[in-house]
Amino acid sequence: MNKQKLGKTGIEVSALALGTDLIGTRINQEQSFLLFNRYVANGGNFLDTANFYASWLPGFKGGESETTIGEWMSGRRNRHEMVISSKLGFDYPGCPGGLTAREIERECEKSLRRLRTDYIDIYQAHRDDRATPISETMEAFQKLIQAGKVRAIGASNLAIWRVAKANAVAQANGWSGYAVVEQRYTYLRPRHGADFGPQIFISEELKDFAGTDSIALIGYSVLLQGAYTRSDRALPEQFGGADSDARLELLRSVAKEANVSVNQLIIAWMRQSKPAILPIIAASREEHLLENMEAANLRLTDDQMARLDTAGNPHIARAWLQPS
Ligand SMILES: NC(=O)c1ccc[n+]([C@@H]2O[C@H](COP(=O)([O-])OP(=O)(O)OC[C@H]3O[C@@H](n4cnc5c(N)ncnc54)[C@H](OP(=O)(O)O)[C@@H]3O)[C@@H](O)[C@H]2O)c1
Repeated sequence: MNKQKLGKTGIEVSALALGTDLIGTRINQEQSFLLFNRYVANGGNFLDTANFYASWLPGFKGGESETTIGEWMSGRRNRHEMVISSKLGFDYPGCPGGLTAREIERECEKSLRRLRTDYIDIYQAHRDDRATPISETMEAFQKLIQAGKVRAIGASNLAIWRVAKANAVAQANGWSGYAVVEQRYTYLRPRHGADFGPQIFISEELKDFAGTDSIALIGYSVLLQGAYTRSDRALPEQFGGADSDARLELLRSVAKEANVSVNQLIIAWMRQSKPAILPIIAASREEHLLENMEAANLRLTDDQMARLDTAGNPHIARAWLQPS
């Protein structure tokens, strides 16, 4: 798998990140290590985690994903070869959540301990905290960068205007701004007004902003839990409608023509889109991981990209990409 620079962070990451929200919990340690080993054997180096993974599962309290990553890296002595993205902002036992200076400092120390490392490559706000002044949050992140505990910062599930405002505050103070934005993304487009709770879907406006400001975009929940291809998983109701029907039909026909799976096609399309969106893949089974990773080697033709881009409602076109 090729490596690439992650926007202006300059950090070299593999073409696909590996999601770890169920690592060390629903996916036991043995299987987690197997998946990590397969991922790095195929050129992967970019793990996406968060402080509270997976506190929502009965019997777990959060921190399990980071702890398992830390144990695996320390066993393999490969911390220096890996890029770790972690996040804070949601509450979990022992942490009220939010982006106050106190929480940023405290949660970073906890993550470092669990990950058995002295630095986090990309540290992200996992959700917004509108009760805390932006300057307090950005200064706290800056202190971590200055202390060498964090290399770059990112924003996940923030409104675009809040990212822009935070970066303006950072710039005015000579601090680092958010260089990465991680939001929900897939090939199907949610219908207007679709609600994803605290999660935010990558919009055309965000693509415009990220492309203009060289902010790296990362997409999660790319395969809709496997619902594109699995009869045991339903497509989320937010994606219902004629636009999705047309895009699904096109997806299936291009996948057939390219002799790849629909999942691989989505991953390849996302990587090749402009601006590129780096997909986070996730799997509990080895065969799914390998299928998804193979998509990193897939190169779609301009014609295939154009057909995939324009399928469905033409009025949701990428107007900003047209030359003025
Ligand atoms: N920043 C955020 O707020 C945020 C939010 C959500 C997720 N994330 C990150 O993104 C990662 C992925 O999220 P997600 O789990 O929602 O992603 P997803 O791609 O929508 O779903 C992954 C699941 O889909 C199934 N799957 C994967 N590949 C498949 C294939 N080739 N064929 C059939 N089924 C397949 C597997 O289900 P089974 O394992 O059940 O078989 C797998 O666990 C997380 O681990 C986390 O790191 C971040």
